[in-house]
Amino acid sequence: MTTNTAIKTLIKDESLPLAWLDMDRLEKNIAQLKTMASPLKIRIASKSIRCRYVIEELLNNHSDIFQGILAFHPEEAEWLASHGLKDIVVGYPYLRWFDQQTSIKKEWDEITFMVDRREHLEVIDNMAKRLKTKINICFDIDLSTSHFGIYFGVYRSSLKNEAILKDRLEFLKQCQHLRLKGVMGYEAQIAGVGDNNPFKKILNPIIKLLKKSSMKQVIKKRIAMTKLCESYGHQLAFVNGGGTGSLHFTKKDPSVTELAAGSGLYAPLLFDYYEDFHFESAAGFALEVTRQSVDKTFTAAGGGYIASGSIGQDKSPRPMNDEEIKLDINEGCGEVQTPLHTSKNLSFGEAVLFRHAKAGELCERFNQLTIIHNNKLIKKPTYRGENQCFL
Ligand SMILES: Cc1ncc(COP(=O)(O)O)c(C=O)c1O
Repeated sequence: MTTNTAIKTLIKDESLPLAWLDMDRLEKNIAQLKTMASPLKIRIASKSIRCRYVIEELLNNHSDIFQGILAFHPEEAEWLASHGLKDIVVGYPYLRWFDQQTSIKKEWDEITFMVDRREHLEVIDNMAKRLKTKINICFDIDLSTSHFGIYFGVYRSSLKNEAILKDRLEFLKQCQHLRLKGVMGYEAQIAGVGDNNPFKKILNPIIKLLKKSSMKQVIKKRIAMTKLCESYGHQLAFVNGGGTGSLHFTKKDPSVTELAAGSGLYAPLLFDYYEDFHFESAAGFALEVTRQSVDKTFTAAGGGYIASGSIGQDKSPRPMNDEEIKLDINEGCGEVQTPLHTSKNLSFGEAVLFRHAKAGELCERFNQLTIIHNNKLIKKPTYRGENQCFL
């Protein structure tokens, strides 16, 4: 496997900062995802990749593992479909975008849009009626659970129980231009929450317990909600569930026909914090050492690429050999400069490798990924590098 030293040697003449992706490590992560997901296939969560070339490579070279895309915006889905990509589910609902459409696009044949409220159904049906077409939709069912009064989950979908889903299924009867193609039930509290987070040591055992107890409820609910859709005569093409952190659990749900994952491919810092599996750090960025203020303290250019979500130390990027190079507690990763404390003797112009806390967000900071493959560098544009910015 490519070592960090080899990566630094390979990029020694490149201009910095740059974002890198190592194909050797990516292949290891693909194999790990396969083990976790098999026999089900994985729909690629594009938000965690944000590079069209990588998505295409995964779908073309690993069609036994990956099938379809879970996109995060209708415009993104259209753009991917315009490049020939197929079977795209937009994972989150939108409203205005549908009002703004003035003509049918052939790309929509490949796209399924997410809904959970009557308002979502109404706005898409109105558009489809106006444009005289049919649109594929998918229900996002909420899989948050409750344990002795503790809410364990996320606040996204309104489809919290069978009565609410029934209401939407009744309403759907009036929506003549919609076709219910699938159901998605993402157990965010299991898939997206680490249970071995060094920044949340007190919480880890509680999270572990909550996850265990949540799993049973999740499976029961997803089965019941799926059955309810089918009882209305809908023939579902897919029932999607899971994320990187839950593949091995979600595949056991007999109602699930496919899984979703993305983060395990690049394997950012937050995915180190799960007890059940290990991924290789396949992507990161490199900053240039530009200054030395005092003895044992250097400064690198760039670096302030903090991850989204609740604010915390675990959302900061970190140098890859962080035993030897530490961030400054007061300054952290700075807007344009990042101080580094180290007993190592860094040289000016030297590259320091970092990892991001989240996967795809890295690509929003760089126009291209520098891909390391067979000891060579290949440059491929990120979404941003293709002038695509969706959220
Ligand atoms: C709907 C949905 N499915 C699946 C995932 C899992 O993605 P990943 O494997 O990148 O964590 C997410 C992540 O937030 C999501 O929102």
